[in-house]
Amino acid sequence: MADGEASLADQMAATTLTCGSESSIKWSKFSRRVLIRTIVSRPDGGVGLAGQKVAVGGWVKTGREQGKGTFAFLEVNDGSCPANLQVIVDSFVAPLSQLVHTGTCIFVEGELKKPPVGTKQNVELRVEKVIDIGPVDPAKYPLPKTRLTLEFLRDHVHLRAKTNTISAVARIRNALAFATHTFFHSNDFLYVQTPIITTSDCEGAGEMFQVTTLFSDTEKVEKELKQNPAPSEAEVEAGKLLVKERGDAVKSAKASKQDITTSLVELTKAKEHLAKLEERFKLKPGLPQKDGKIDYSNDFFSRQAFLTVSGQLQVETFACALSNVYTFGPTFRAEHSHTSRHLAEFWMVEPEIAFADLEDDMKCAEEYVKFLCQWLLDHCLDDMQFMVKNFDKTAIDRLKLVSSTPFQRISYTEAVKLLENVTDKKFENKVEWGIDLSSEHERYLTEVIFKRPVIVYNYPKGIKAFYMRLNDDMKTVAAMDVLVPKVGELIGGSQREERYDVIEKRIFEMGLPFEPYEWYLDLRRYGTVKHSGFGLGFERMVLFATGLDNIRDVIPFPRYPGRADL
Ligand code: 4AD
Ligand code: MG
Repeated sequence: MADGEASLADQMAATTLTCGSESSIKWSKFSRRVLIRTIVSRPDGGVGLAGQKVAVGGWVKTGREQGKGTFAFLEVNDGSCPANLQVIVDSFVAPLSQLVHTGTCIFVEGELKKPPVGTKQNVELRVEKVIDIGPVDPAKYPLPKTRLTLEFLRDHVHLRAKTNTISAVARIRNALAFATHTFFHSNDFLYVQTPIITTSDCEGAGEMFQVTTLFSDTEKVEKELKQNPAPSEAEVEAGKLLVKERGDAVKSAKASKQDITTSLVELTKAKEHLAKLEERFKLKPGLPQKDGKIDYSNDFFSRQAFLTVSGQLQVETFACALSNVYTFGPTFRAEHSHTSRHLAEFWMVEPEIAFADLEDDMKCAEEYVKFLCQWLLDHCLDDMQFMVKNFDKTAIDRLKLVSSTPFQRISYTEAVKLLENVTDKKFENKVEWGIDLSSEHERYLTEVIFKRPVIVYNYPKGIKAFYMRLNDDMKTVAAMDVLVPKVGELIGGSQREERYDVIEKRIFEMGLPFEPYEWYLDLRRYGTVKHSGFGLGFERMVLFATGLDNIRDVIPFPRYPGRADL
């Protein structure tokens, strides 16, 4: 572009760009282009925009030279929707060999045209000017045009957002996050950010990642001691002697003011030297120990700290003051599960409702899941169609079913009875009252017996966390799990034990330490309130919606045993 000549993109960015009429086009407010979605996702497929000048940026999905190298067809995608825009570039506009390789970034401007009759596109862009190119060396680019497996893409996690599948999942995930905030805000919940670093183990399962600087501190000390060994006891004694001598010198300095000042300076120096010696004398290789255990008083937080497994306990402090709250953030579990449904880092949506019992909790969970499903049908149908075409034929039907069918509710005791009577399938894990239902049992209930989401409630107290409310039978707690086809457990929740004496007894019975939960018990000591809540595993929801098989493909950067890329 010649100096001083403004591109169309610049001119459009400088003017008011949106108007509502059929043939007008909305320019992106913060980049000088039109999103491809605003062209191809119109009800008319963009045909009504023919004749308009636009600038478009994106990455070439496929490109080929035609007409003996006189022009090229490029399928371009900018991530705003699953569909591509067909772009045509003539060889006199730009060197075609630079543009056609999969993965190349182009920023171009030109005119939208109606393609010849018989072609599948509704509209195409005829390029008049190439503003920018981000080239790709096809011999080196790891994601060629051929279809790649999701396993392969996990080894290229930094590039996989460039694929159709991972970008569709990203848009679905984004829609579910937005729907989550919309649902809770429209039901008068307040969004509370709970801490990622915590000193309490919410689930009491001991599956926490520890947060400590002791190892790096120890490494630093060991490195420093190698370069500069700690002083010996004799050197420290010599330092003490020097301080004594300098002290005596100050006392005996009677002469001039000048002499006294000099002696005092010498004494201060000797004291500083001794302090350093004494400090360095304490340096020892290895982790700091006290009474044969690691001494955490020297750690960053002066005590053991962990990554949170759930924001529930902290969000309860807000529920017990602000009534309806929710938290939505990352949670961490150091489970060594190599399953397609577990991650070491995953996101959880945790509402907490004051003045609510288990019944209210189940109602909220059901309405929320239905809302999410309907939201995707209303706002993400093109991406859902992509998933249906490429991964799971039933994905849209499943959303429709869940958004419109009442969830089945059964008690744990009833569920166990049903599973004990199953004859057409042999479970790997034996079913009997008291067991923690495993994924095979959960999926059998929801996929085979009821063919819809199932809420199992009133679980044996022995398999559930300390904070769940003890039922009058003294054997079960007011817990509930929402099970959905394809995934199994999507939500875990409960009514919380609000009675001080009961929860105190439960903590004791379960052999948990009191000290870390003292603050939690204060919520029962001062103004206790009946309250309930649940946690929805956000990736499990994305898995359920997309129909993909592995949870590692529905979070941008999966963390699981042995892997934490980037
Ligand atoms: O059932 P969980 O352990 O419940 C809690 O953490 C409660 N404190 C929630 C609450 O009441 N506020 O976990 C909740 C959900 C599960 O139902 C599951 O969907 C998901 O979190 N989940 C995981 N998702 C991915 N990877 C893991 N390792 C998961 N562990 C739990
Ligand atoms: Mg659970």
